[in-house]
Formats: sequence, C-alpha cells, structure tokens
Amino acid sequence: MGVVASAPAKVILFGEHFVVYGEPAIVLAIDKRAYATVENRKDNRLYLRSTNLNLAGYFEHGAFKIEQGDLKEARARFEPVKLAVDKILEKCGKNVGLDIEISSSVPVAAGLGSSAAVAAAVAAAVGALLEVNLAKEDILRIAFEAEKTVHGTPSGIDPAVSTFGGTLLFQMDTGFKPLEVNMDIPLVIGNTGVERSTRLQVEKVRNVKEKYSRIMDNVMHAAREIVLRAVDAMKERDLDTLGELMNMNHALLYGVGVSDESLEWLINAARKAGALGAKLTGAGGGGCMIALAKSEKLEQILEAIQNAGGRPFIARKTDEGVKIERT
Ligand code: PMV
Repeated sequence: MGVVASAPAKVILFGEHFVVYGEPAIVLAIDKRAYATVENRKDNRLYLRSTNLNLAGYFEHGAFKIEQGDLKEARARFEPVKLAVDKILEKCGKNVGLDIEISSSVPVAAGLGSSAAVAAAVAAAVGALLEVNLAKEDILRIAFEAEKTVHGTPSGIDPAVSTFGGTLLFQMDTGFKPLEVNMDIPLVIGNTGVERSTRLQVEKVRNVKEKYSRIMDNVMHAAREIVLRAVDAMKERDLDTLGELMNMNHALLYGVGVSDESLEWLINAARKAGALGAKLTGAGGGGCMIALAKSEKLEQILEAIQNAGGRPFIARKTDEGVKIERT
C-alpha cells in the first residue's frame, strides 16, 4: 500500500517581479495538490512514475534509465525528486530502493509551483516510510534544495507555501510571515497554455528598470502600497477592494511589459464576466492569470475564460500545507 503524502500548489496574489527588488509579495496555497505514494523495493533502485505526465524510469548506481516517455523530460522532472530522496537517505543513513508514484492536479511549468509541491510531498512521504523524524522546517529545506536544481536561484516562495500552506507575506530581506486570513478567497485560475521563461521575464523587468530608474522607483513604491493595502483588505474581509487592488497590480505589471496577448484576452474575459479583479500571476508572458470573484460568479467566469481560449479551474486558498494522507 505504501505511504501517501500531499502538498499544495500556489499562486502569487500580489507583488511578483517587484519582490525581486525587495518589495513585499502575497502568496497563497491553493487546493490543488501534488500526491506522492512511496513503497519499499527489494532492490536498490529508485523507481519513479508520474501518472499525469506519463513518465517512468529508475535511477540505479547513479544512472537513469527511462521506461516510459521522453528521456529529457523525465530527467528534468525526476532529478529534483531524486535529490530530495537522497537528502533523506543521507539523514537516516539508509541505502534502500523505493517506488515513488507522483500524481498531481497542478499544471506543470505554469507558475503554480508544481515542482515544489511534488518535492515537498515526496520528502514527507519518504520520511514517513523510513521513519525519519522530519519537522516542517526539514521538509522546507529539502524541497528548497530540490527547487534549486529546477530554477537556479529561486526565491524560496514555492517550497515555503507548499510546506506551510496558508497565506504568506514574503519579502527578500525578512523572509516569510504567515498572514492570518479569515476569509474565503475564491479564484478562477486561467492557464494560457503559453510557455514562458521566468528568467527572461525577470530580465525584461531589469531592462525597464535600468532605462527608467526614476519612474520605476515610483512603480515599486506603488507596488508596495498595493500589497500593504491588500493586507488590510484581507483583515477587513473586503473582497471588492482586493479585486480592485488586483487590477491595479496588473496595470503595473502590464506597464513593465510582462503581460502578453494571451493573458490580456483571459483577463478581459474574466472582468467582463463579472470578476472583482483579475491579473497575471507569477512571471507573466504567458503562464497563468487569476480572477477574484464572489462564489456565485465563479462558474460564469470559468466559462468566459474557457471561451476566450484558456484552460480554467476554480481554486480556493487552503491552510493545509504538506501532510501525510495515509501511512
Ligand atoms: O511564475 P513563477 O512562479 O516562476 O514566479 C516568478 C515570480 C517572480 O517574482 C517573477 C520571480 C521571483 O523569483 O520571485
């Protein structure tokens, strides 16, 4: 039967890009989760299977053998998982074979933190199977190490949200601060299906910042004020204000050049269908947008995004971080 663990995906509600320059951002764990099922093996192989990506293969004596799917893709998805497993084996001084099955309802490479959710779920499941005592901080550290193999220099937002769940205020110099949010945040997430590179999007903003440094000082200041106002709006359970602030945040992101046609279509469709606010989320240039709405409007907005060519789903914030589902 094996041990099953899960961890949530995330959306950046406010502050992406500006966070790179020290401004605050608000990140939310959503009720889309990655699941890892781990079982012992009789041999020493680390066998990995991803049910949604149709990938399977195993590591043995440091080499990777593909059994199903594209070799390059399998390596890219499985290397961070292997790293997470190795860290735990190191910690408990064991050298055992494992079967790991990953299944996830999180779209991959869309800025929703799928790789971090997988790494956190795998770390928790392997830890529980091998009876290693892992605190959440340990899981965060392992998922962060795994994430570094995916992104190079990630901010650490994704593994933190996948591990702890909930709503986090993040700032480069001070790190994460959990925000207590006693309201539902009903969202429709629209995937444009357009692949983008976070690195290139970040570079774009850097160029704009260099060319228009004084203007950008003011843009950064505005971005910061939006986040601080959003924290208050969440305390006041003021969904309307939160929506307006999302529109303002998107205007800034559009201004610095990280929106694109695919995102604008979906954002406009969502607003027309009655969203309180809509914006791109994450790096932009494709990837995903989010729309905030009263619960009764969610289906309508979902349909509008679908008709505009997006792949939408309804998401809600979750306070549940990484957890063991079954031992
Ligand atoms: O789309 P994602 O999840 O890769 O988010 C990128 C967020 C940025 O602020 C653009 C970059 C960063 O490292 O914070």
